[in-house]
Order: sequence, then structure tokens, then C-alpha cells
Amino acid sequence: MEVKKAVIPAAGLGTRFLPATKAQPKEMLPVVDKPTIQYIVEEAVESGIEDVIIITGRHKRAIEDHFDKSFELEVSLKEQGKVDRLRMVREISDLVDVHYVRQKEPLGLGHAILCAKTFVGDEPFAILLGDDIVKAEEPVTKQLIESFNQKQSSVIGVQKVADELVSKYGIVDYSNGNNGTYQVRDLVEKPALEEAPSNIAILGRYIITPAIFDILENTEPGKGGEIQLTDALRTLLKQEEVYAHVFNGRRYDIGDKQGFLEAVVEFALARDDIRDDFKEYLFNYLQEELKEEFYSEIAALEKAK
Ligand code: G1P
Repeated sequence: MEVKKAVIPAAGLGTRFLPATKAQPKEMLPVVDKPTIQYIVEEAVESGIEDVIIITGRHKRAIEDHFDKSFELEVSLKEQGKVDRLRMVREISDLVDVHYVRQKEPLGLGHAILCAKTFVGDEPFAILLGDDIVKAEEPVTKQLIESFNQKQSSVIGVQKVADELVSKYGIVDYSNGNNGTYQVRDLVEKPALEEAPSNIAILGRYIITPAIFDILENTEPGKGGEIQLTDALRTLLKQEEVYAHVFNGRRYDIGDKQGFLEAVVEFALARDDIRDDFKEYLFNYLQEELKEEFYSEIAALEKAK
């Protein structure tokens, strides 16, 4: 069966980005000039997804407005003859059919996915988490769909992470495989490094069979008192084969300040209209910074003599 639907959970409060997220959804924070959620929806569309559902919560209206038509803006851009901007704005609302459902209580990622049960029905579907943006030649979701098409089983997108990051992620243990796809033996949500079966982390992209919904309905709260998708996948593993696919691409953890800033700088440097001036500015700025540091270290050494 083909994967044509995607679920994008966006109900989190974004407390790691306060005060920016006090009155706006974290998914609307821009990387250069595009909200993060638009990168995610574009990845879904470029991967062949035809229907998207975004799981929202209170204070997330800006996301709905973003993918809606903006008549006043279109009329104004048209009157001013700003054809390129008009085209850009229209492309956003024409991207794909976006549906919305509200998660009424913050009960965890597993619970958020369960809110999409009626929308998904009896089909395999993609999940894309908004905290992870991946720059890749072939969109990650597309890579996973290709792997799903071969295996006809759930596929989780993974990459190796540094030891100190293991406890931040769902971790998988897998056996041998080929072409980057391996059969999962076990999964555990955010284990301590000593208890982790590996340092292969789940990084925000999944293709999952609909059997997950009945499991989620019966999954007890796990780590952090929340209903965890990883725990439900662990149960799924007892019923069906589950695979992990090591995807190609540079992944940015947008939910983290450092990751967010890296994404802004690297996406800006990858843009033809921004690169040259921005690179020159960065270079000069860092040169001045390093010079200052160097002179103050020399001064401190002199003083200590
Ligand atoms: C979620 C998942 C976790 C996964 C991570 C990827 O955690 O529960 O398994 O590794 O996303 O970014 P969160 O970061 O939402 O706490």
C-alpha cells in the first residue's frame, strides 16, 4: 500500500524557546525567512504525500493562517505589482491539503499521534516531527517511503548520535541489514547512556502501519508521565517486523537553541540571494571577535608576569 498521508504533531508548548513562544507557536519560528513548519510540510509534499494533518493545540492559530489563503495580502501585493512575492504567498496555500485536529491535553507524542486515527484510517502513514529539519538531497521521508515499499513494514528514521546525547532520544537496537535498512530488535525512550542498547537515535521521521493506533489506545504513560510513541512501537515489534533506516542528510535540532542557530546560519549560507554578503559579514565579525579575545589573553598574561 502507498504512503499518501502524513501526521505532523505541533501541539507542544515550546517552553525551551520562551519568551519567543509566549504568544506564537514554536513551529512558526523562521529559519532565515521561512517558518520551520513550512520546511516540514514541503518535505512531506516532495516525498509524494497528498494529505497532511497537523496536530495542534491552543495558541496555534498562526499555523492554520499560514497555510490558508491570505486575500488581503494577495490583493495588496497584486496592486503593488510584486509578482514574485505574490507567487510565493500563493504557493504556500496551494502546497497540499492541510487538515487540523486539536490535542486537547498535552499527554505526549503517542497521544498526539492517536488524535490522527480517524484521518489516517487503515493506511500506512508518515510522521514528521517539527523539531527536526533535515537538509538532504533526497527528502528523508522519501528515503523512508522507499524503504517501506521494499519491506512493507514500519520504518523509523535513525542516525548515530554522540554518547552525551543518547538520553535525549528514542534509541534503537537493530540486527544486520543492508542498504541502510536494519531490522529493529528493541527500542527504548530516552535511556541513560549505561542502559542504552546503542547510540542509534530516532530522529523525528517515521513510516508506520495503522496497527499502531490500537496499541496507542492501550499504551500506559511512560517516560515523563507521557504516552510515548516509542513504547507503542516496542509493542508493535511483538506483532510485526519494524525496521530502522539510517537516512542521508544533515539534521538540525530546531528545538534546541544551538541547533536552531546552526540551521539559521547554514541555511542562510546556502541561499544564493544571501550567501555572499552574509559570509563576508560573518568572516569579518568572527575575525574581530577572535582578535579581541587574543589581545585580552595577551594582556592577562602580561599582567600575571
Ligand atoms: C521525540 C521522541 C523521541 C525522538 C525525538 C526525536 O522526543 O519521543 O523518541 O528521539 O522526538 O527528535 P521529544 O524530543 O519530542 O521529547
